[in-house]
Parts: sequence; structure tokens; C-alpha cells
Amino acid sequence: MNAFVRCLVTWIVLLIPAFAVAQIGRLPRERTSFNEGWLFKTGDPAGAEGKLDYDNIKGDLLATGKKYLAADSAPQTSSIGQDVSYTQAELDDSSWRHLDLPHDWAIEGDFEQSLPGDIGKRPFAGVGWYRKHFNIPADNKGRQIYIDFDGAMAYPAVWLNGHFVGGWAYGYASFRLELTPYIKFGGENVIAVRLDNPPDSSRWYPGSGIYRNVWLVKTSPIHVAQWGTYITTPTITANAADVEVKTTYENGGIEKADLVIKTSIYQAGGGAVVAASSTRSKTEPHSHSTFDTTLKIQHPKLWSISSPNLYWARIEISRNGKVVDTYDTDFGVRTIKFDASRGFLLNGKHVYLQGVCDHHDLGALGSAINYRALQRQLEILKEMGVNAIRTSHNPPAPELLDLADRMGFVVMDEGFDMWVRGKRPNDYHRAFPDWHEIDWRAQIRRDRNHPSVILWSIGNEVWEQGNDAGHKIEAELTAIAHDEDPTRPTTSAANDSRSGFNGFQKAVDVFGYNYNWKNYERFKSENPSQPIVGTETASTVSSRGEYFFPVSDDKSKGRADFQVSSYDLYAPPWAWPPDTEFEAQDKNPFVAGEFVWTGFDYLGEPTPYDRDSKTMLDFTDPTDRARAEAELKRSGVITVPSRSSYFGIVDLCGFKKDRFYIYQARWRPDFPMAHILPHWNWPERIGQVTPVHVYTSGDEAELFLNGRSLGRKKRGQFEYRLRWDDVRYEPGELRVAAYKNGSRWAEDVVRTTGPASQTQMQADRSTIKSDGDDLSFITVKIADKNGLVVPRSKNRLHVKIYGPGEIVAMDNGDATDLESFQSTSRRAYNGLALIIVRSKRGHTGKITVEVSADGLTSSSVVISAR
Ligand code: GAL
Repeated sequence: MNAFVRCLVTWIVLLIPAFAVAQIGRLPRERTSFNEGWLFKTGDPAGAEGKLDYDNIKGDLLATGKKYLAADSAPQTSSIGQDVSYTQAELDDSSWRHLDLPHDWAIEGDFEQSLPGDIGKRPFAGVGWYRKHFNIPADNKGRQIYIDFDGAMAYPAVWLNGHFVGGWAYGYASFRLELTPYIKFGGENVIAVRLDNPPDSSRWYPGSGIYRNVWLVKTSPIHVAQWGTYITTPTITANAADVEVKTTYENGGIEKADLVIKTSIYQAGGGAVVAASSTRSKTEPHSHSTFDTTLKIQHPKLWSISSPNLYWARIEISRNGKVVDTYDTDFGVRTIKFDASRGFLLNGKHVYLQGVCDHHDLGALGSAINYRALQRQLEILKEMGVNAIRTSHNPPAPELLDLADRMGFVVMDEGFDMWVRGKRPNDYHRAFPDWHEIDWRAQIRRDRNHPSVILWSIGNEVWEQGNDAGHKIEAELTAIAHDEDPTRPTTSAANDSRSGFNGFQKAVDVFGYNYNWKNYERFKSENPSQPIVGTETASTVSSRGEYFFPVSDDKSKGRADFQVSSYDLYAPPWAWPPDTEFEAQDKNPFVAGEFVWTGFDYLGEPTPYDRDSKTMLDFTDPTDRARAEAELKRSGVITVPSRSSYFGIVDLCGFKKDRFYIYQARWRPDFPMAHILPHWNWPERIGQVTPVHVYTSGDEAELFLNGRSLGRKKRGQFEYRLRWDDVRYEPGELRVAAYKNGSRWAEDVVRTTGPASQTQMQADRSTIKSDGDDLSFITVKIADKNGLVVPRSKNRLHVKIYGPGEIVAMDNGDATDLESFQSTSRRAYNGLALIIVRSKRGHTGKITVEVSADGLTSSSVVISAR
């Protein structure tokens, strides 16, 4: 095809849909971001106090959930609109703060030393209001208008023009509310959202606010319901795949209608229809109906971790020859199976689950979802060899599953951290009895088309592992999952060793043990036909770039300065170094794999420094020691400064800890790599024993100190690191040469650096979209004159930005740093710091970021916003 013809064809293709839209006036369904232009205020405005307490309005919130569950028999329009006596419609909100969603109000400002570390020393509890004024054109009359919240923390209650339209309880749930009955068509509308985060309601930092995306959805009265498709592929051969599409559609109007429902399947990335079918159907006023069809894809391209091929299905509903709704769903063609002897099989092939657990926060960005930030996390995990993610311990942001589908991860999709008995006085256990069925069904309906999802996890370490009442709940949650999606097994993350033998194991399809490697063998012998996976493992703790001496193999040691030594030998009492779990998994190959706690550090839960300390800790830093001694004298305790976890394999900034490499060595055996720890700047240790550990995907390595061999070592069976435990420190160069099957495989070098003399900057991406959402992550390094990163440097950095971008946050990965993430000045931590830059919506051009530090050469980086 020559260029002219290609151009003509392109124009015709582009014009056809435009022409079709012009014919019908607008698209039959519109789903647009509703994130822009909100007003925000914390606390209840006068007049609202008391009345809106969760205890008072829980019935009203629950009504929304019940209506959702009953949706099969009654459309959503039927009875909304119970008024709560509070007239926010007329409220004067002119002084409220302007912002765009997603927004986490609790991430702003300095950390509060007096708040508990487990919630990240952030004031997340309390009430917050969001309001938005918006217009709906007069010609929209006759359409149905919905608002979809991907998540709002917590107990969201929503009013439109002063009328209560519904709400939800669980802060991690996605939900829809119908606005139609109270919309002023052709006029100004005001929507108000009240959130209420009770104190003592989480074991980690949950964030606060409308922290996930919000969408405005407009449809014809006849339309596919919320999450209204369920696509499965019951038969797959090399030649063809059967695709079963079950569609729920509703008629919110008052007319009966004859419909034509067309289902078309496309291959992602290509334009061609690969299968299609069309059927006639009828609909009654105010009704829900379902429609099933099976289509065949010839020579299907399977979805897998290495080739995450996707398809998408379009449902098109027409009436009298006019399209009244279109609804698109991504899906994949793949088979999954858990086998008691072979573990996990994807498309019939064994895949060892190399998983991590992660919480939902994005470090310095708090819990406000950002697509790029999440994508970057997954890119880093992929580099490590991760192929599985556990959404601990709640429904994830929808974007996580979209990314997992596209990037090739499998997902253990988890619902709850507790059932009837809570872990905190005000956590979700208070809502669980009323809400669990609603939430669990909603989560599965939302997520069940994602090929990445392979397991439904009904709970994490619930208290009910050992009693009959608990086993009943477990059976109920599994039954709900099977009812909503018979294609995937359930699991539960069980920490009680007895739960593998006391009946608890029987009510899930795949048994999941947390930290119970000692029981893998016994589990297999007592439950020979049940698959098992390590749903939560390791929980090793470490701080990036910290090493304490003497190095002890006692897992409770390795602590100083509220940091944990990075020799990867330390863990709380229930937990283990990575090596211990590796060995157990290798000795019990029927175990499907592991989900390490955690991929990334997260806000809150700073074990082992959760609580105030009465005993004196070791202090390597004299300033820290003096400060702690003064405080001990004053108050009798040392107030622990820690506000984020030490569990991450990767720190809160996304910088790799040493542990990254022990997992990479195991999970990417064909990738040549070697990694030495510790760093080699120990002027105070000359002549002292300074052990050197090496992680490598090779099987043997030789270590050299200033050119002298310190011996060649071979990894023994069940050994996952090479150790030179008696190295005496001398400055210079430490080099390791790794071998595999006798041949040179990889090498690594660490060198003693000179004093810090310069800053260096590196942006992860030098071009970003000017959409007000896209981010560039800039790593700042403190280097000596030869460009080597100075390991223990903590220089204070000052940042300036010019052009169409803004600094959203800075961080350094130090779990004890209580300075605000929004500050544009911050200490580096062990040589590194991170600057997160966001584009300004609609502004293109060059963004220049400059870093300066006393006594060091400044640096700058340019990012273009397009
Ligand atoms: C587990 C729990 C996780 C986290 C972890 C820390 O028992 O499931 O949420 O608290 O311990 O080791």
C-alpha cells in the first residue's frame, strides 16, 4: 500500500466512528474521569456533627450494598433517595481547598512522633468532606447517570444536591451509586462525599480520602450492568478456544424493548474481529436480564507470564437498529490449575510462584493511586524475577490488575484481614457481619475477568482459624467465591500451624501457610490431595545500606540506631531469613511457591521498632545516642521514631536493598548476576573482621581483596549465599568473579570511595505525558570525585524546579525520617534520595530539576513534558 492510500484508509477509518457518533448525537455510553475540580475540607462543617456518625448512618450505607446484591431482581433506580437531615447543597464551600483526585489527605505534612508507628505516625483518623460542582447538559435527560468510586477511605456517604444517594463501608471496596433521580439536567449540581476514618482501625497506614479514581458514567436506560460481563474460556486447545460470555444488562426505563445483542471479540493490539455473534432478546421495564453466548477463537494466543496476550470483547446492544450501549471487557485465554504434587500449572506448564505481598500505599505518594508509580513498582519487581503478587490484605486498585494482565504477573486477590473478630478495635470486623457477602461478591465480580487473577484469598491470619464458627465463615466465603466464579480456587493465608490439620484447611481449595515452612511436610502427608502454597513467607527485616558488627546469625540481633543490618539474617520471632524458606521450598517441591512479605517497604508497621523502647538500643551514631539518652532520662522511654516498614525487599523509594539480589539469584537463574555486600567504606574497622556475603545466580565464586584471592567457594545443597566470614577490612577494592558450571558467569565490584564531592541525578524517564498525572522518578546520588556513590552519606539536599512540573514528594528510604514527604529539602540516606516530579495538566515543555547540597557540586536534570 503506498503512503497516499494508507493515509486515505486511515482517514476513512477515523471518520467512520466520528460520523456514527454524529448520527446518534453522542456515544451511547460515556465513562469519563471525574477526578478534576473537587473541594476539600477536614472535619464536619457546622450542622453535621453527630448525625452522620457511622452508627447513625450505617443502615443507609448498607442499603446501597444490599441493593447491589439484589441487583439481579431490582434495578438500582428503584428506591434511592432517603434524605439525611443535613442540607449540604446550600453550604458555603467557597473557602474550601481546591484539588484533584485521587487524594490522600493523611500523607501531607510532617510525621507526628507521638502517633503510633504501626499506622505510619500519620494522622489518618478523622472526618473529611469532598464536594464538586458540575453541570450535566439538558440534552442528557433520559440517560442514566452513575458515579463509580474505585475506593474511598472510609465509610463513604454521598449526597447529590442535598439528597443522600448511598454509600459504602469498606474503604478498599469499589462501588457505584446512581445519581439520575436527583440530577439537575441543564443546571449546576453539587455532589458531597463524607469520609470517616475511625481511630484504631488499621494495622498499617491505610491513607484517607478519595484515594482512588472516580468515574462518571452515562448510559442509555438499557445498558450493560456494572461489572456486567463474566468471560470464561472453558475449553482451550491449540486449534481453538471456546469463549463463554455471560452478560447482565438492565433496563432502567419504563419501556419494553426488543433488542439485538452483538458480541465481538478482538485481539488486543490488532483491529480485526476474531469472533462474533448476534442474538435477539427482549427486555421488560425496570428489569435485569442475563444473556449467555459462546464464541470460538481459532488458534488462540494464550495469556502467560512471559507472553501476556490479551483479547477484548465488545457487547453492543441495539434497539430499532440504533446502538444503545457498548461495553468492553479485556480478558485472556489461559488455563490454571493447582496440583497437590506439582504446584501451580499455567496452560498446563509448571510455574513456580515467585511472589511478593504488597500493601497498597505508594510510599511518599501515600495511598493515592498513581498508575505510573504502580507500574514502576511492578517493573522493579519484574527485574527481580517476581511473577506473582498478593494484594495483602484487601481488594487492590483496579489498575493493579490491569497492569498485572499486561505485564505478566499472576495475582492472589485478597479480600479481608479479619472476619468477625477484629485485630484493631475499629477495623472492618465491625462491618463484616453485614457487609462480607456484599463486599466479597462485589470484589469477585469486579476482578473475575482478569487473566492475572489465579486465587481468591478469603482472608489473612483471621482469628477464626481454630473454631467451628470460623470454619463456617470460611466455608461461606469459599461458597460465595465458587458461586461467583467457579473457575478459580480459594485460599486463605493461615498462620496458625494447627489450621493445616484442624479442618480449616478443608474449606479452601488451595491451602496457604504463613511462616509455617516447618509444617509443609506434615501437611502433605495428612492432606495428600490438597495443593499448598506459602501465602506469606520470610518477613526478613533490613535497612538499605546499614551493616552492624559483629555479624551475628541470631535472627533477633542486627539492630542499631532504629535500623536493621542488611546482612539479611534478621527477622522477628515468627519470621525467617530468605534462605530458610528457600530450603523448605526446595525440600518440598509440591509447594506451589511463596509470597514474600514484602516486595516494597510500606508506611506503618515498623517491626522491630513498633513500640516505644524502655531498654537502651545500640547506637552507632553518637548524636542518636545522646538524643536517646536524654529522652530516656526525661520520659523513661525512648520514643521510637520509626514510621515505615523494614520488611521490604525494596525500600520505600524503590531503591533495591541487598535482599533484592538473593531473590533475583534464585528467581532468575539464567540471568548472569553477582552481588557483594556490605559496602567497603569502613575507616574505623581497619584490620577487623568484616564478613562479605555474595548472592549470585552462578554456583561458585572467587572473592578478591585488592587483587588477592580470598578463596573460591562453591554453593552447597540448600545454600543460597556464599560467605567469606573472616575477611579483615582494608580499604580498596573487593571483587567477586562468579562461575556457573565451571565457566565465568558474572562479576561485581565494590570500592572504598573518597569523600562526597558531587550530586548526580538520573530520571527514570526523561519524557513524561503532560496530563497532570504522569511522574518522573529522579534518583539523586551523593558521589565522590570519581562518581562512586558514597555509602554512608547523609548530606542535606535542596531541590528547585523550573518549567511545567511540580515536586510531589521527596524521600530517601529511611524508615526513621520524620520530615514531611512534601518538603523540597531532605537528607540523603546512605547515598541516595528520590525526587518525584509530576507534570502539570496541559502544559508542555522542559522541566528542569536542580539539586544542591553544601560543599558538593550541584546537578540538574531535564525532563520534557509532552
Ligand atoms: C503477618 C501479617 C502481615 C504482617 C506480617 C509482618 O503475620 O499477615 O500483615 O503483619 O506479619 O511480619
